[in-house]
Amino acid sequence: MVTYQSAFILNNALQAILLLAWVVAVVCTGNLARLNTIKGLQRLSRWSLVPLGAIVILSLVRFLLIFQMGGNGFEAVPSPVLWSLALVIPPLVATIVMVIPRLWALARLKLGPANQAHSEVDHEPVSSRLEVNENMRAVAGEPALAVPVQAGAFSALLALLVVLAPPSILFAGICLLLLGAFVGWRWLWQTRLVKNIRQQGRSALLPLWQRLAWTGGFGLAIVAALALWIVLAPQTSLLPEQYSMMGNDAQGMQMSPGMNMKMLSVTDLSGPKDGTPDRRFTLVAQKTQLKLQSGAVVEAWTFNGQIPGPELRVRQGELVEVTLENRDIEEGVTVHWHGVDVPNAEDGVAGLTQDAVRPGQRFVYRFRVKDSGTYWYHSHQSSSEEVNRGLFGAFIVDPAEPANPPAEDLTILAHSWQTSQGDIMAFGPADGLQGRAVAPGAAVRLRLINTTNKPQAFSLTGTPFQVAAIDGVDLSGPTNLEQVRMTLAAGGRYDLRFTMPDHPVLLNTQNTSLLLSRDGKGEVSPAKTLTDFNPASYGTPAATPFGPASHFDREYTYDLESGLGFYDGKFEPVWMINGETFPNTPSLMVREGDLVKITFVNRTVQDHPMHPHGHKMLVLTRNGQPVTGSPWWTDTLNVAPGEVYEVAFKADNPGLWMDHCHNLEHAAAGMVMHLMYENVTTPFQVGKATPNHPE
Ligand code: C2O
Ligand code: CU
Repeated sequence: MVTYQSAFILNNALQAILLLAWVVAVVCTGNLARLNTIKGLQRLSRWSLVPLGAIVILSLVRFLLIFQMGGNGFEAVPSPVLWSLALVIPPLVATIVMVIPRLWALARLKLGPANQAHSEVDHEPVSSRLEVNENMRAVAGEPALAVPVQAGAFSALLALLVVLAPPSILFAGICLLLLGAFVGWRWLWQTRLVKNIRQQGRSALLPLWQRLAWTGGFGLAIVAALALWIVLAPQTSLLPEQYSMMGNDAQGMQMSPGMNMKMLSVTDLSGPKDGTPDRRFTLVAQKTQLKLQSGAVVEAWTFNGQIPGPELRVRQGELVEVTLENRDIEEGVTVHWHGVDVPNAEDGVAGLTQDAVRPGQRFVYRFRVKDSGTYWYHSHQSSSEEVNRGLFGAFIVDPAEPANPPAEDLTILAHSWQTSQGDIMAFGPADGLQGRAVAPGAAVRLRLINTTNKPQAFSLTGTPFQVAAIDGVDLSGPTNLEQVRMTLAAGGRYDLRFTMPDHPVLLNTQNTSLLLSRDGKGEVSPAKTLTDFNPASYGTPAATPFGPASHFDREYTYDLESGLGFYDGKFEPVWMINGETFPNTPSLMVREGDLVKITFVNRTVQDHPMHPHGHKMLVLTRNGQPVTGSPWWTDTLNVAPGEVYEVAFKADNPGLWMDHCHNLEHAAAGMVMHLMYENVTTPFQVGKATPNHPE
């Protein structure tokens, strides 16, 4: 069994190797008509079968790999890979049917009686004297022998471009037309050549310099086409100076027939404007130089001068007021409440729900917290940079009536810091090993928050434990676990729960550890053999407001795709949804009250933690298998390479919401869409001419 990633990479590598093999085959078969002795013709025919045999075998391996990539559902095979088949299969079949038998026949060419007589007269070794006659030369130059191989090479080149470029059926179609034209041209050419050979013999063949000129000219044309693309594509990929994040839908926004809905602005959808808040916090965004536990220096962008920002702890049902002040972050800042279903105007997305807060400015967020659980907050202005540099913190909501609050309630923000000594993983500011004294018998809750851009694998050694909650939502009937690897989505949270034993316990990820023991000291080595924790089959089923059998008002499929191309003028891997980068990605249009089903398909080699703002998704199926354990609610769902997920949510929080990949680098390279309620508009804009750059 090959993983999706290896199959993906191997498939691309094979395409490159196939191109080389085809070129070798073209050189071999292209010289057949130039040979003068039968022996030579036989030998080269035999040699030509070598690259062609390799091509047949490697192509079959490729087809198997493509089949393998569809292991979790055939929709996981990238469409360009399928389109490339339309390019490569016809020349391959033609080669098998027309070229290989002809080469075989030439390789075993019977020596005619005329030639035999001729050689006997001369008393010379038969083989070296036997000369190719016009007829044989014409057979060696036949279009049915030469053209499929030439087409194979050209199709291999086109297929490689189709697979590497961002998915575009238009481009694939153009390539198919080019291939057709190429075959037509080569066929006419070879036909004329054969005719001339029959009339003029060897002198009908082009002299070497002319052949080289033709080949060179053809190569130059390809290079010129690529160069033209490199010159034009950056320009056409530039994002507008100023635009609405509602993208294409803003202009063509269509009300469903018979709809009689009041139009709302994002700004109308705020939290309570008055009422004395139960909790008040102030977050001051400022640049600060800080040290991690190891002494590595971080040029941090912080809230309140600390990394991570202060933990904000509130109680379910409380009215919370947070004042954001920007001291000196020139880029501007906002605060987004990741996973917390706040009213739309409090969501903190620069250019969609507010303007970025510039230095010297302030912004007040007010909302009532509905759900308890583990959440986090972070800037949603230039978020790929600002979160990375430290503008984030934990947001913990205690239940309205805590059943029995744990004695030890610890929040672990796992982050990868850019430091003077390179990238360093840390729990809060503590890189390396950190100890903490916990009394045996104490109830412990560890709230793991992954603030990096990649999934992080955690292990907990020394005690059985339970995963009590995922993304802030308590699980039903969690059972004891041991020796498992918990892979937490970028932006995701797991709450772990256990009773402290009278020996040390170790939480570990990537050389970063938290050791709990009576005195905060001791030794535990992280368990070596771990099995993967699977949230789809953990715990016991419980009632949910909707499920796989529900009637859905809307269903959307989002193919997560990638390719090498230009985004906003930069050549980079672009990250796409349904073949488009933001703001051309398709919006998820809903109406309040809709029950919506989404299918996420990852057709790339990287993980995509999909995160809709303002809504929780219920996972229905993972790779075609229904969820059998506890209901699995999530706001940040890691869709691994080749995976297919079906999720559902209720459209119960009107507004305009970002829905994006929480690998914030991917979001910045296009993997962003919007969840839009039909009757909501925004007065805010994004683009270079505005202060707003949400990704
Ligand atoms: Cu934590 Cu839009 O994200
Ligand atoms: Cu992604």
